[in-house]
Amino acid sequence: MSPEPAVHLAQIGLGAWGKNLLRNFYSQPGAVMKLVCDATQDTLKRAASQYPGLETCTDPEEIFRRRDVHAVIIATPPATHYELAHKAIASGKDVFVEKPLVLSSADGEKLVDAAERAGRMLMVGHIMVYHPACLQLKGYVDSGELGRVYYVYATRVNLGKVRDIENAMWSFAPHDISLIVFLLGKLPNRVSAVGQAYLQKGIQDVAFMTLHFPDDTLAHIHTSWLDPHKDRNLTIVGSRKMVVFDDAEPTEKIRIYDKGVDPQRDYATYGEYLSLRTGDIVIPKLDTSEPLAQECRHFLESVRTRKPPRSDGRSGLSVLRILEAAQQSMDSGGAPVEVEWKEG
Ligand SMILES: NC(=O)c1ccc[n+]([C@@H]2O[C@H](COP(=O)([O-])OP(=O)(O)OC[C@H]3O[C@@H](n4cnc5c(N)ncnc54)[C@H](O)[C@@H]3O)[C@@H](O)[C@H]2O)c1
Repeated sequence: MSPEPAVHLAQIGLGAWGKNLLRNFYSQPGAVMKLVCDATQDTLKRAASQYPGLETCTDPEEIFRRRDVHAVIIATPPATHYELAHKAIASGKDVFVEKPLVLSSADGEKLVDAAERAGRMLMVGHIMVYHPACLQLKGYVDSGELGRVYYVYATRVNLGKVRDIENAMWSFAPHDISLIVFLLGKLPNRVSAVGQAYLQKGIQDVAFMTLHFPDDTLAHIHTSWLDPHKDRNLTIVGSRKMVVFDDAEPTEKIRIYDKGVDPQRDYATYGEYLSLRTGDIVIPKLDTSEPLAQECRHFLESVRTRKPPRSDGRSGLSVLRILEAAQQSMDSGGAPVEVEWKEG
C-alpha cells in the first residue's frame, strides 16, 4: 500500500498563539508546512531560523496563489478572519480558523455557505472539544454516570492580554460555549449576560453569561482579563455525581465527587426526606497529550478523509449566535434574549 500523500499547509499569523500552532502543525506526521505569512519581518525571520525548509511571506495573497498549498491555518486577530478565510476558500484551500470564527453571525453564515458550496473543510479552533480531559468529561455525561446534568459553570479569568476590538467575552467564552454545547449535546434557547468595560470604552473586560436550555439545564460562564487569578475550570452538577475540571492543574485535572441529595422513601420530616450523600472523591488517570496536538491532528484527518471536523463551521456559527445574543443582552442591561435555531 502506498503512503498517503502529505497535506501541504500554509499559515497566516505567527503571534502569541500562532507560534504554538506552527510548532504543532510543523511536527505532525503526514503534513508539510510549506509557507508562513506574518505582517512582521522579525517574526518571519525567527520562524525561518527555527523551522528548516519554511518559506516566508508578508502578503497572504502569495499563499492563496500557491497551487501546492492544500490547507491554510489562520491565526491572525479575529477582525481579519472573515476576509482571509473567505479568500482562502475561494482559492480552493481547506481552512482552519482560530476562535472566534469571525465577529458576526452574518459573516459566519457567509463563510460556512462559501465553504459548503466549494466543498472545502472549514474548522474552528475550539480547542476544548479536542482536550483529552474534556473527552473524558463527555464520557461521564453521556454514560449517565453523573445522572441528569442540572447545571454547569465555567470560569476563564486571568490578568492577561487586553484586546482592543473583541471584548473578554468574545475572546474567551468561545472555549466554554463550545465545550458546554459539546458536553450537553444541546443548544440554549435563551441567553443573558452582564459585563462592564473599565479599561477601554465599550470593550467589556469582564462578563458573566448565563445559558438557559429548554429542559431547565443552566450554564454560567465567567470571563475576564482583569482578575488576580488564572482560573480555567468547569464544574458539572448532576443528580448522581458532580465533577470539577481544573485545567490549571498539571495532571489531576478531574475530580469526580460522589455527592448529591437523594429523596428517601421512609421519612418522618421533610428534613429526613432529602438525605445528603457524600461518598468518595475519585481522581481519574488522564491521557496527558497536548490538546493542541490533538486538534491539529483532527484537522489533518478531516482534510484527508473529507469528513467534517468536530468543530466545523456550523458549530462555529452556533457559538457566534450565542455570543451575539449574550452581547445583545449585555447591551440592554442583562435582559434575556431568545435564540432560535433553524437547524439541528
Ligand atoms: N485556541 C486558543 O487557546 C487561543 C489562545 C490565544 C489566541 N487564540 C486566537 O488566535 C488568534 C491570534 O491571536 P494571538 O493572541 O496570537 O494574536 P497576536 O496579536 O499575538 O498575533 C497576531 C499575528 O498576526 C499577524 N497579522 C495580523 N494581520 C495579518 C495579516 N493580514 N497578514 C499577515 N499577518 C497578520 C500579526 O503580525 C501578529 O504576528 C485569535 O483569533 C485569538 O482569538 C486562540
